[in-house]
Amino acid sequence: MTPSRLQLEHIVKSFPGVLAVQDVSLEAYPGEILALAGENGAGKSTLMNILSGSFPADSGKIWLDGVEVNITSPRRAQELGIAMIHQELALIPQMTVAQNIFLGREPRLAAGLLVDTKKMVIQAQALIDQLGLDFPVTALISDLSIAQRQMVEIAKAISFQSRVIILDEPTSALSERESDILFALMRSLREQGVTLIYISHRMEEIFNLSDRVAVMRDGQLVGVTPTKDLTIQTVVQMMVGRELKDFFPKKQAEIGDVILDARELRSGKRVRDVSFSLRRGEIVGLAGLVGSGRTEVARILFGADPLDHGEIKLAGRIVHLHSPEEAIRLGIGLVTEDRKAQGLFLGQSVRSNASVLLFEKLAQLGFILYSKVDAWMRGAVTQLTIRTPNLEQKVRNLSGGNQQKVIIARWLAVNPQVLILDEPTRGIDVASKAEIHTLMSELAAKGMAILMISSELPEILGVSDRILVMREGRLMAEFSRAEASQDRIMQAATGQLAAG
Ligand SMILES: Nc1ncnc2c1ncn2[C@@H]1O[C@H](COP(=O)(O)OP(=O)(O)OP(=O)(O)O)[C@@H](O)[C@H]1O
Ligand SMILES: [Mg+2]
Repeated sequence: MTPSRLQLEHIVKSFPGVLAVQDVSLEAYPGEILALAGENGAGKSTLMNILSGSFPADSGKIWLDGVEVNITSPRRAQELGIAMIHQELALIPQMTVAQNIFLGREPRLAAGLLVDTKKMVIQAQALIDQLGLDFPVTALISDLSIAQRQMVEIAKAISFQSRVIILDEPTSALSERESDILFALMRSLREQGVTLIYISHRMEEIFNLSDRVAVMRDGQLVGVTPTKDLTIQTVVQMMVGRELKDFFPKKQAEIGDVILDARELRSGKRVRDVSFSLRRGEIVGLAGLVGSGRTEVARILFGADPLDHGEIKLAGRIVHLHSPEEAIRLGIGLVTEDRKAQGLFLGQSVRSNASVLLFEKLAQLGFILYSKVDAWMRGAVTQLTIRTPNLEQKVRNLSGGNQQKVIIARWLAVNPQVLILDEPTRGIDVASKAEIHTLMSELAAKGMAILMISSELPEILGVSDRILVMREGRLMAEFSRAEASQDRIMQAATGQLAAG
């Protein structure tokens, strides 16, 4: 049997009020892709952060290629050949690609003081070319897309001759094509004997890529199994400790009157002429490729982007949405795709983040009943299964998926007439995803109109009553739930006939 590359023994890590990793022992081998699965808050990122030197374990041992190692810092991890691509990217936006890759170990000119920029650029470009990427290494990180930034992180990991590369939900911000490039790269690294540890909530990816799957639940390792011996059902069962039946349980809701009517919306180059309406009780899916203008439509409806032309009617009356505050006041909500940019106050508590809109609403009424707010908060935390020791926990300390749930909770509080959700389940585990879908369908049943942007076609097909497809700033197609299929949507989104 191959000797293990990596051996974790009895790793324990607690945070105040949370036992994040409980006595985990795990091995990984050279030339394998080990998937790490588990619900939001199960301890996946924590375990991997220990391995990559972000913080020490409370106790436990780590062996690398048969030698016990003490990983005291990210730098030490790098020296040992352990690289981690984090859930939240960690590049310096004001620096170039090449500078980021060689940060702290830039090639020097003969005298040793000055950075040999020319050499650095050549070496970095060679890496980028090797990965089949097509942006210049002299570009600033801030000018790159999220996907490109992710690729830079990977280039950096490779440049360290890493023996172990950890990827924490790398595809959650990538388009399908970009994900494919990443997967091809991961497979070729596996060929070269690198150990890859891959955290993802996407079961299809786990099954396509991995050799074995390790599942964590509540800080513990539930099991490690060769992927070929598993089914999605069994993995999910291991994750949640019970059987999950219905992934997309859309309830039949009474579809009511038109609540929002958008006519000929135009804004800049991204939204070229978009007309559609939303009815009470309806979930409308907005599909399209990344960059097709979906997010921009959402921003217009939320008063965040100006309209060059067009008209929006809410409950039959023309409205002028000049700001998000105005949209909120009129009963339009938006959960955006970027957790950080949409105003999660990471340094503040779950309570203040989730109740910020509720307080605004109550303040308009002129009084606030704190006991009411508290009761509501507890309800929301339970309903969304937000995993937090208490309401005072700082949002920064929640796992990625639980941060997303706090944003959704915020909107539940104010019960908008129209709720726009932009990639609402990105980074959310399968079980919670089903809960969020159930919640959406309950909200619709109560008369809310929901517009959901999603890049995951199974999600779009599963929850939508009606599906709109955008391409290059225009609406290309509309399907009823019965008419829609993955092929038809992709065809409208790309303008091409799907193969097969
Ligand atoms: N710095 C911290 N301070 C306090 N608690 C923390 C901290 N980091 C993580 N936790 C807690 O530890 C637990 C495990 O979190 P972790 O981020 O490892 O989960 P995860 O499995 O990566 O989840 P996700 O799929 O949502 O990313 C959670 O309850 C989280 O709130
Ligand atoms: Mg995580």
